[in-house]
Amino acid sequence: MTVPRHIAIVMDGNGRWATRRLLPRVAGHHQGVDSLRRCVQACIERGVGVLTVFAFSSENWKRPADEVSGLMDLLAKALAGEVASLRKNGVKLHFVGDLDPLSLKMRTGLREAETSTADNTRLVLNVCFNYGGRWDVAQAAAKVAARGEAVTEEAIDRAMALAHVADPDLLIRTGGEQRLSNFLLWQAAYSELYFSDKFWPDFDEAELDAALAAFARRERRFGLTAAQVQRAA
Ligand code: FPP
Repeated sequence: MTVPRHIAIVMDGNGRWATRRLLPRVAGHHQGVDSLRRCVQACIERGVGVLTVFAFSSENWKRPADEVSGLMDLLAKALAGEVASLRKNGVKLHFVGDLDPLSLKMRTGLREAETSTADNTRLVLNVCFNYGGRWDVAQAAAKVAARGEAVTEEAIDRAMALAHVADPDLLIRTGGEQRLSNFLLWQAAYSELYFSDKFWPDFDEAELDAALAAFARRERRFGLTAAQVQRAA
């Protein structure tokens, strides 16, 4: 079975998971961290090389203040509680997004987590935080201009926030919605899309395997005809 080298995930449905249980929305995000921990392990076991997750979007600042501060606390807690085991499990962490609005303490913590896992090679985990696809394209274009380079696809590619990994092969969105919500607009050009009705806290190994099986059945043509793809195989 063809396993995607890079999976990207919009971890949607935490709020609804919590609301259905009469819990505050932030309880769903807490449960979401457990689900992410399981997913990282499952990806390692299945030989996936890169996992990119959408943890906080550029637009999430507009949520109620208690939910925003809950997500910030969760990031701080996850840093304190998860980095040692991620490090032990061979995971290399990257935080991707506009980190400038975060506190100095948080930014320092994120950079330290990256440094302490920098030599790991089993799985690259990109955590997109204060990330937006449009922000990414704009910051890349600004970098290209500042470098005085010609504006080409290759130059923009090199300046994108995920330039350290190949584009995602499979993009999963949980929670039943079928849209990109400003995630990886540039990098998902040829990603296979998979939508799961499960809320993110309920996304388990069986659901991941269903997504992997669906991916393995897809024919990726990258603009070619089916006959061309079959001749090249
Ligand atoms: C979308 O669900 C989810 C988020 C905005 C946050 C995702 C965060 C996690 C899974 C926790 C991992 C986070 C860190 C900090 C490592 P939603 O709130 O939009 O759910 P809804 O659509 O049901 O309202």
